[in-house]
Amino acid sequence: MRAVSPPLPAADDTVSRAVLRDGSVVQLRMAAPSDHQALTRFFHDLSPESRRLRFFALSEPSDTLLTRFCDSTDLSHNATLLALRLDGGELRPIAVGSYFSTGDATAEVAFAVDDRFHGKGLGTMLLERLAAIAGAHGFKRFEATTLTENTAMLEVFHESGFEIRSKSDRGCVNVLLSIDPTGASVNAAERRDALATAASLRPLFEPNAVAVVGASRTVGSIGRRILRALVAGGFTGPVYPINPHADKLDGIRCYPSLAAAPHGIDLAVVAVPRPAVLGVVDECAAAGVKSLAVITAGFAETGVDGRALQQTLLDKVRGHGLRMVGPNCMGLLNANPRVRLNASFSPIVPPSGGVALSSQSGALGLAILELASERGVGLSTFVSVGNKADVSGNDLLQYWEADPTTNVILLYLESFGNTRRFARLARRISRKKPIVALKAGRTRAGSRAAGSHTAALAASDTAVDALFRQSGVIRADTIDEMFDIAACLDSQPLPGGRRVAIVTNAGGPGILAVDACEAAGLHVSPFSAATRERLAAFLPAEASVGNPVDMVASAGPEEYRRAVEVALTADDVDALIVIYTPVDPTCSRETLDAIRTGIANGRAAGGAAKPILGCLMAGTSRPRPLIIGGERVPVYAFPENAARALAKVATYAAWRAQTPGLFWSFEDIRADDARNVCRAAIDADGERWLTGDETKTVLGAFGLPLAAGTLARSPDEAVALARVLGFPVAAKLSARGIQHKTDVGGIRLNLEKPSSVRRAFAEIVACARKLVPADQIDGVFIQSMIADGVETMIGVADDPLFGPLVGFGLGGIHVEVLGDVQFRVAPLTDRDVDELLHGIRGLPLLQGYRGHTPADLEALREILLRVSRLAVEVPEIVELDLNPVIALAPGKGCRIVDARVKVRAPGTRATPTDG
Ligand code: COA
Repeated sequence: MRAVSPPLPAADDTVSRAVLRDGSVVQLRMAAPSDHQALTRFFHDLSPESRRLRFFALSEPSDTLLTRFCDSTDLSHNATLLALRLDGGELRPIAVGSYFSTGDATAEVAFAVDDRFHGKGLGTMLLERLAAIAGAHGFKRFEATTLTENTAMLEVFHESGFEIRSKSDRGCVNVLLSIDPTGASVNAAERRDALATAASLRPLFEPNAVAVVGASRTVGSIGRRILRALVAGGFTGPVYPINPHADKLDGIRCYPSLAAAPHGIDLAVVAVPRPAVLGVVDECAAAGVKSLAVITAGFAETGVDGRALQQTLLDKVRGHGLRMVGPNCMGLLNANPRVRLNASFSPIVPPSGGVALSSQSGALGLAILELASERGVGLSTFVSVGNKADVSGNDLLQYWEADPTTNVILLYLESFGNTRRFARLARRISRKKPIVALKAGRTRAGSRAAGSHTAALAASDTAVDALFRQSGVIRADTIDEMFDIAACLDSQPLPGGRRVAIVTNAGGPGILAVDACEAAGLHVSPFSAATRERLAAFLPAEASVGNPVDMVASAGPEEYRRAVEVALTADDVDALIVIYTPVDPTCSRETLDAIRTGIANGRAAGGAAKPILGCLMAGTSRPRPLIIGGERVPVYAFPENAARALAKVATYAAWRAQTPGLFWSFEDIRADDARNVCRAAIDADGERWLTGDETKTVLGAFGLPLAAGTLARSPDEAVALARVLGFPVAAKLSARGIQHKTDVGGIRLNLEKPSSVRRAFAEIVACARKLVPADQIDGVFIQSMIADGVETMIGVADDPLFGPLVGFGLGGIHVEVLGDVQFRVAPLTDRDVDELLHGIRGLPLLQGYRGHTPADLEALREILLRVSRLAVEVPEIVELDLNPVIALAPGKGCRIVDARVKVRAPGTRATPTDG
């Protein structure tokens, strides 16, 4: 067993677009015969020097070679990937990368990049993408021969992070790259993607100048509101309204077209009627605009025609190398005082702060901004992503990861785009900055509503929960809770544990807080004698000095000051909730001041690393944060809100404190053997359940311990096998088309002698003959009986959006009646597996409850890691049921007693969108 790098993205999400080093975008696709002319022109237009470096000759490639470039029908033989840009209204190649098989899992690779686009990372990007495609089609190595002076190409190979061997030979360098992803190659690719994506979004969030195309003469129209918001928000650069019918709007000079406007526009907010949008995109590109926020509605959310129009819009935007937020969005904001951009029609701009927010719903976006403003949550940036045609939530995550003003990321999601990319990014980014997500559509009815609203597939909730858990994403249940959590994360340190001190002057709210803390998994444990003594020194006798500290209604400012300081500095406390219910409102101000002083003193006296949450009911309708110097202590409406937010923050803190999980591989896995069996079954019959023998081969190839047994085709064979295995044995029907063997009398257990085996064989076959034709009955599986052990079950289900989900639970009624099963999205790290094992309620049964023998958890752990690899490496498997898996005593391993595997041609399910 060895740790391996996380798998690279599947080839299907790498082919469509790429962001370059300078932040511009290219379209990507495989070459086709119709590209012959365009490729002839591309190689013709290359400078002679570039041609010499590519072909070692000044001449252009032969017609035969061009025809080969245009053939990407069999990717296990050769492939040519094109990077394209719009030029004179047509998409033309600006870079071409190819591989051709040279046998023995090796392909020769070569690249050519238009001279005007050198230095933007196109070669590296094409190598990375081609390697992913080649790897998915059975190649292990790329070889290339490069002229010694072609340092740029050699650098591409070295920077890729792939293992590389090179040899100089008469003016050339022969390079051999192992294209198996390594830690270095995956990290290098992710770093490049993160830098390029963040750079590509900078013109959107930090533009030097902004144009509003469609700033209307009609006051109150959307375009006009955006113009006013930009000006009223105090945008620090110039704003250019574009309107062919106006000279001035709100006193600002108007331009008839983008061509007539000054140069240097980074962002165009587009609010023209739908039929004018495509033309405006061309105008933007011609005027050198770098990014767009398309407010206009009427695209994918409206149905088939709208979807087609959105695709045309996207092709245009990417063809021009631009980035676009929307369409059908309400724009974006950057509250950073250096920028002060309100490129939206929200009249409200929350205060500047560290919270970044994206909303998939425009209307809700407005409400969310209002709420953030009321709650005093400071915003760094806000984006209404609309239909997410180009800029996706995943792109935004990478921007916020790099953005120094963002501390906390909030996502309001209705649908997921590319969930695998989300999983990879969220796992990485959550380690540095917390991500809080509110996923609409938890219920079935909610999912349908979300699906129709955003024209996107709603994700199933089990998978969402699993994915969030695995990647450290904090799931909020309501918008209010999202801000409750954000307020704590933005301004307070992460707690080192779950022990909470509660300081209050009223018993009721104190008890509510204790209940809410305990219900949420926090501990309000009694203070140590030392802490109690420190409190008793100044509190009246009727006060309670345990935990919660109930100072009774007579508590004044001085008591608050000292109690807060003591609780904050107590050794047995990880976090503090301060509750204040004014009994005498005339003292409120003084008491709040005293709480501030207590916090400042406590911080200085060793309580700096503990989060503090307030519940100060001091007469304001909406709670406002308590400001102490540079610190903001979040204040909540009710103690329950504070407790729930703190509990989620504590769970996140614990996730972040653990070392990241590792993906494991096993030397003995023979993935090709398993894949071949599945592919042969699909080729023969399409989607179906594997036969007993096929299942045995697939599980065997991944080292999964099927209980010893073999298929017997006659009663004599059955008896002979039973003798080899040793009595008692089990006999099980193996017939295509019959899955539930128990239901049809296809199973006999505990057969202790030859005559019972013989009888069982005859009875089982007789039962089966009543149900299926004789040629579908393969025989009877004779298997050792497994005595003792704990029954568990392990399964794989294929989620249309999230891919394979691995499930684990105890067998029998635990799964069927109690639903005590946990899921994680594959691939699973060792940490995910530990959480699966420890997450079920029936865990005590595995640990040896009341004198029972405990189960071999190590062996279960290994099986789960192997099943995770099987699910990922054999995408033909759409369903897998190992039930029961008997976990024997520690050191004795596990045995899979029954297994069912269903296969289907991969790619026949809905594929996630890009992004
Ligand atoms: N270049 C510059 N200006 C142009 C133009 C072009 N190519 N084409 C049109 N315009 C101008 C018009 O002349 C008009 O200005 P005027 O009123 O001074 O003549 C302005 O753009 C707006 O055009 P108009 O026809 O009045 O459109 P509208 O304001 O009725 O609608 C949208 C435009 C974008 C608001 C509308 O199409 C739309 O999509 N509304 C829904 C938006 C929405 O809900 N988005 C999602 C939010 S979550």
